[in-house]
Amino acid sequence: MKDWFKSAVVYQVYPRSFMDSNGDGIGDLQGIHSKVDYLKSLGINTLWLCPIYPSPNDDNGYDVSDYLGIHPDFGNLQDFAELTAKLKSEGIRLILDMVLNHSSDEHQWFQESRTSKPPNSYSDYYIWHPSIGEDSTEKPIPPNNWTSIFGGSAWKWCQERREFYLHLFSEKQPDLNWENPRVREELFEVCRTWARRGVDGFRLDVINLISKKKGFPDVPDSLLHSPDQHYSCGPRIHEFLKELHQEVFAPFGSMSVGETPGIDSNLAALYCARERSELNMIFGFDHMCVDHGPGGIWDPAVFRFEQFFSILSHWQEQMQRYGGWNSLYVENHDQARFISRMCKQEEFLNEAAGLVATLLLTLKGTPYIYQGQEIGMRNVAYQSIEDYHDIWTLNHYRDSVESGDRPSEVLRRIHYRSRDNARTPMQWNCSENSGFTNGKPWIKVSPSYPDVNIENAQTDLKSPLHVYRSLIEIKQNDPVFIEGKFQRLESRLPGVFAYLRGERRLIVLNFNAIQMPIGDLLGANTKLVFSSQRDSCHGPLDKLQPYEGRIYS
Ligand code: GLC
Ligand code: CA
Repeated sequence: MKDWFKSAVVYQVYPRSFMDSNGDGIGDLQGIHSKVDYLKSLGINTLWLCPIYPSPNDDNGYDVSDYLGIHPDFGNLQDFAELTAKLKSEGIRLILDMVLNHSSDEHQWFQESRTSKPPNSYSDYYIWHPSIGEDSTEKPIPPNNWTSIFGGSAWKWCQERREFYLHLFSEKQPDLNWENPRVREELFEVCRTWARRGVDGFRLDVINLISKKKGFPDVPDSLLHSPDQHYSCGPRIHEFLKELHQEVFAPFGSMSVGETPGIDSNLAALYCARERSELNMIFGFDHMCVDHGPGGIWDPAVFRFEQFFSILSHWQEQMQRYGGWNSLYVENHDQARFISRMCKQEEFLNEAAGLVATLLLTLKGTPYIYQGQEIGMRNVAYQSIEDYHDIWTLNHYRDSVESGDRPSEVLRRIHYRSRDNARTPMQWNCSENSGFTNGKPWIKVSPSYPDVNIENAQTDLKSPLHVYRSLIEIKQNDPVFIEGKFQRLESRLPGVFAYLRGERRLIVLNFNAIQMPIGDLLGANTKLVFSSQRDSCHGPLDKLQPYEGRIYS
């Protein structure tokens, strides 16, 4: 089907934490296989798997050591074939995560590259640079001040080659050299191989970082806290994406979604406007920064709702104007649980989750639901840093404590922000370890699992699960929710976000934890077709309950 990505409803699985089939405490492909029926019952039609390839797991699989294999923790190619067959039989498409900006330092390409200089065939597969001198202790000085997104310098000295290599993430994730046509061809062939194995599309990890600025200029001080902005959109980025499109996506009809940190809504169209033949859509980050303080991601600030609404509207309008397409998400394996960020009142967490569901499924674009989001999984707050695993979290803890911050204060930030908030095991039921494993889970289960779990949610009508299910069904049966025009309605009520889809679908979302009259927003006696608060479906329309979203048509 042409443009199937527009009617995709994507569910993202973090394989390590989804379902363990063999009791080793790590989720795996057979585990996912055993839950396809659940996914089907939710109504989603596309599954995105985070990396499943062999990896030393410095960054949980985003450091790939073999692009064509399956990590033994997850199974093997036979398990993969069985999973794809099962998905096909249920009409669920599959997209894989492709990490093309960097590989693992344990990848054979890097092993060859580090030991030899030109003309060895792998010598230019990565980004090597001589030192620019020595400091007073005779240590080589790196080419510039770039910092790794995970902390520390982005350059690592390699004694064998007597040169630095660039790593925008951990030092075990050397950046691939896209200037080298052989590297590009290798990576295209990797994607083609997976497409031939039956994969329907790709999520492209930090894809706007693949082209590096010429001459490696220093980052201005003002951007030191958000280095990705400085590294992104190098001079050949659009050329490389066009090539990817032409070599892989177009011939296989693959869906493509690029993860693009540092791209705002004005630049977005350059990546996904239809006639540019680059990507189908991108993951923007603007709306995920509305609770960042001046110090960036590790400086949590109050959640700015009005900013959140205007960013979302602006992206909607820009994509409409330029013929691009939005991806709609608020959670993934890199983000803390959204309801914990947005809603400070425990008693409204379920409502908040229902509201988020309504937002994702009624805005224009392709919704992405992250595992556990549909039952309102929330942040954890482990008291010991020992219980955390994420490299970014651990580096932040180490660097902050070393620079004098109180450990308790650093932990508070980690409770709010750590990526591990999203990586705790999926909560299937209230048995030990939430039904995720019979063994010892690789990361602790969240203490919320006895209440918040899939089994309870099935019968608890207040669970957001039912909002997701109903809205997924509505979206799939009402083309207005796919192609219908988005138009924001100005609301004088703070915390209320209202918009039209097409001519006649009105969506009103009340993010306020106070009862809110909506009389002045709604003129006519519109008929209510859906409410995230199921029991008020047919009630009078004069009030929107706290954290309530409604659709009128
Ligand atoms: C992306 C991934 C993240 C990973 C990073 C480096 O942002 O989503 O999990 O750590 O890229 O690959
Ligand atoms: Ca396992």
